[in-house]
Amino acid sequence: MSFKIKCFECGAEVTDGFLDSCPSCGGLLNVEMDLSKLEGKDPRALRNKPLGVWRYAPFLPVDQRKAITLQEGGTPLYDCRALASELDLDRLYVKYEGANPTGSFKDRGMTVGVSRALELGCKVVGCASTGNTSASLAAYAAKAGLGCVVLLPSGKVALGKLAQAMFYGAKVISVDGNFDDALNVVRQLAKEGHLYLLNSINPFRPEGQKSVAFEIVDQLDFQVPDVIVLPVGNAANIWAVYKALTEWNSIGWIDKMPRLIGVQATGSNPITSAFRQGKKDFEPVDHPETVATAIRIGNPASGRKALKAIYDTNGYATDVTDEEILRAQRLLGKKEGVGVEPASAATVAGVLKLRAEGQISKSESVVCICTGNLLKDPDTVIKNANKVLTAKANAEAVKRLIFS
Ligand code: F0G
Repeated sequence: MSFKIKCFECGAEVTDGFLDSCPSCGGLLNVEMDLSKLEGKDPRALRNKPLGVWRYAPFLPVDQRKAITLQEGGTPLYDCRALASELDLDRLYVKYEGANPTGSFKDRGMTVGVSRALELGCKVVGCASTGNTSASLAAYAAKAGLGCVVLLPSGKVALGKLAQAMFYGAKVISVDGNFDDALNVVRQLAKEGHLYLLNSINPFRPEGQKSVAFEIVDQLDFQVPDVIVLPVGNAANIWAVYKALTEWNSIGWIDKMPRLIGVQATGSNPITSAFRQGKKDFEPVDHPETVATAIRIGNPASGRKALKAIYDTNGYATDVTDEEILRAQRLLGKKEGVGVEPASAATVAGVLKLRAEGQISKSESVVCICTGNLLKDPDTVIKNANKVLTAKANAEAVKRLIFS
């Protein structure tokens, strides 16, 4: 486990573990692992540990023996035959990240990020969040015995996520603004030394999030799918998947890269707009709006990394309307018995759209990373589901409702 922290933009090495951007150019930071000892090793040797984030410890930049873990990762990869046939695809898988300890993929990054915070001797951790990051950080901070501060955009956090952040003992602050505003505030607090920042601009977070890609390839017995589709919000997760597979490619554990496809909501689509114009940089969206509140982000902090991941893999970016998201969410539930939150359903909506446009072909094997659990956002489910029928407590009354 030897690594360096370097600037994503200018390549300068950064030695101060508390910085969240490059001191010379302001660029994003990136962890570079020394993987030379792994070259030529058999990846199947890792299988003596259970499927999960820590199976891939040689690829993680923290000391596994002191890790704060809730046994994250090891989530199912569902072979969705009925949905595949609906979408006219030969093979479609859903990586069900809702099965993580706090119900989203954020736990993969948090086990590494909070372990790093302890290594650095921090006492208080913090983040801004559309909900899932705060739920996850609150839980891992509790496990680690650290103080925790989370900033949430007022009125726009799904109920399940809010309940989780409140439940684990974090100081929860609703900020009068959107996620982008809250992130600016918490970055300022981190700069002043009041807390250790655990948003995904902290390069240790994507290191843990790499494990979702490792697991997918491991679960497919080292066959690389043709396409991996992710929802894009603050844009670090698609970078994490890219980084993971680039690392395995570089040591010969896989022999090709999948195309990475990012899906955004139409009302919150800066990366998709940049992609459509072939640009490496993006224009922020001032007032992002979508039912998929997890990805209601106009100024994605890791946007430039996401665009690199998409371009380098000959990938694609698209956006889908709220209506398309909710329809895809219901379709996944009805056809496969899999419940995901709206942001996660954006992947399925994106595949539907790109199949119709011919950007994904029938014979390509596709994996949708469904990032969060259905129960994160019960309000949206109830608002859009069939109404509950009511009856007197006798069989006749119930039969009338069933058979009418
Ligand atoms: N899906 C879900 C369920 C999310 O919660 C998020 C991000 C994403 C996708 C997008 O991932 O930001 O790496 O592109 N949620 C963050 C949060 C912003 O605060 O919970 P990304």
